[in-house]
Amino acid sequence: MNLKTTTRALAATLLLACAQGAAGADIIPLPSSMSQSESSFTFPARTTYKLPQFEGDSVAMVFNTLSGAIAKGAGSELVAGKEKADIELAVNPAMGPEAYALKVSPGGIVIEAARPAGFFYALQSLRQMLPVNPASPATIQAVEIEDSPRFGWRGFMLDEGRHIFGKDEVKKVLDMMAMYKLNRFHWHLTEDQGWRIEIKKYPKLTEVGATRGSKSLGWQAYEPDTVTYSGYYTQDDIREIVAYAKDRFIEVVPEIDIPGHTQAAVAAYPEILACDPENEHEVWLYQGVSRDVMNVANPAAVQMAKDIIDELIPLFPYSYIHLGGDECPTTKWEQNDACKALLAEIGSDNYRDLQLDFYRKLAKHIADKPQADHRKLIFWNEVLHGNTAMLPQDMTIMAWVGADKAALEAAQRGLTTILTPQIPYYINRKQNPSPTEPLSQGRGTETLEAVYNYVPMKDVPAELADKYMGVQANFWSEYVITPEFLEYLMMPRLAAVAEAGWTPQEKRDYSDFHKRIRTHEPIYQSLDWNYGRHAFAKEASDCCQKPQECDK
Ligand code: ACM
Repeated sequence: MNLKTTTRALAATLLLACAQGAAGADIIPLPSSMSQSESSFTFPARTTYKLPQFEGDSVAMVFNTLSGAIAKGAGSELVAGKEKADIELAVNPAMGPEAYALKVSPGGIVIEAARPAGFFYALQSLRQMLPVNPASPATIQAVEIEDSPRFGWRGFMLDEGRHIFGKDEVKKVLDMMAMYKLNRFHWHLTEDQGWRIEIKKYPKLTEVGATRGSKSLGWQAYEPDTVTYSGYYTQDDIREIVAYAKDRFIEVVPEIDIPGHTQAAVAAYPEILACDPENEHEVWLYQGVSRDVMNVANPAAVQMAKDIIDELIPLFPYSYIHLGGDECPTTKWEQNDACKALLAEIGSDNYRDLQLDFYRKLAKHIADKPQADHRKLIFWNEVLHGNTAMLPQDMTIMAWVGADKAALEAAQRGLTTILTPQIPYYINRKQNPSPTEPLSQGRGTETLEAVYNYVPMKDVPAELADKYMGVQANFWSEYVITPEFLEYLMMPRLAAVAEAGWTPQEKRDYSDFHKRIRTHEPIYQSLDWNYGRHAFAKEASDCCQKPQECDK
């Protein structure tokens, strides 16, 4: 489809819809196929719905998760109908697992999907078509959508090691992800500055490792403050979050970043983990890359990592565990006799291989478990600097630094990969160069437009395409202490990454996205989501008042 024509056609139908008072379909991520028409559907005061019988009550559960939002936007009460209903959900087994069809016509709304996830995404699209808080039953434009995602992995990573935001905020983040059809929550739970997950066999990980002597982290000219800062998730909390995410078709992927970024763990168990247990170790008060890494040549440290994995597996009942692997200085290994001896034993002169040998032992530990407990491993792309042949070849490389090149190298080695380029997908970085922007990383070049315009898989040879699992936005929290600031930086850039993950590249266009995102501001406001105001400089209603704006 020609984009310019589509944009003009969309603008024309939008004008028509505005004239009729019908809400248009400013859906994000843009559906893979959508046509709008001049007619519309008005919700009756009591809207009937009909749900298919499907694997117990799984479709009913999906409907229940979103029915409150839909009833509110429709300005109508939703009641179960018997024969012909205003909203009908029907199973179409021929569709893909996340695909859906959504047809709005003057006679009602019909949704088809093969799986509960498809119904969920159809209802999220419908919800985005509805006004916020209409005074009377809403009218929406007629539309026919057939939709399915470009990538299977559409992720968001939250670092709660540096700062922890708490269960309610994590649920809010999951709601934001769900609205934009993201399906992997990568939970970065351990850092030099804090260990945030209860491990029953090693209670000091949280008794000691979850507390530090500063709230703000020191960095360059900034000294750490002296405010005690503390927090972690119990295993019950984790189960609650995993269940909340599951209801929104989001798999939670835990990251235990080892053997680097482990100063908090080393401070908790120096006798097991430290390369130099004779020295003092504390949970780190600074930003950056600590040299206080685990001693991978100590069998007790390897055993501890295995024990931690044993507690992770039942908490996260999905295919993947992320073991980190980024920014692991080898300085202390190079000064440690046991590490030197182990390097000689494995026949390498590359200290990075000590890290890969450590992972090899952990992978073997997992492989020796019953099938149901098997997990595939994800690593940051620095792992490519070692001999990856010693690791299971079903691992995945998460490409962040020099991401395109690293992902290509992973694919050429036969490994799967996920694109999470530091620039521009680290959406904790400043989103605007204005001097009034709050302090965070970067110079403000990761604008909404820059994030949107990243092209995943640019120039990737066709024969390697199936190695690319998808895309992910990352959020590092060195500077980010409050939930408000987290949301401010996340939104709406999360929506830009979500569109890259879902919409075919040839249909992506920033000016069209920008027009659609502007209409999402009332949704954010109604849900009490904070957001960067940069993208919303013009009122959404300008579109109807000044129609020429629509065609820009
Ligand atoms: C990373 O940004 N250190 C993965």
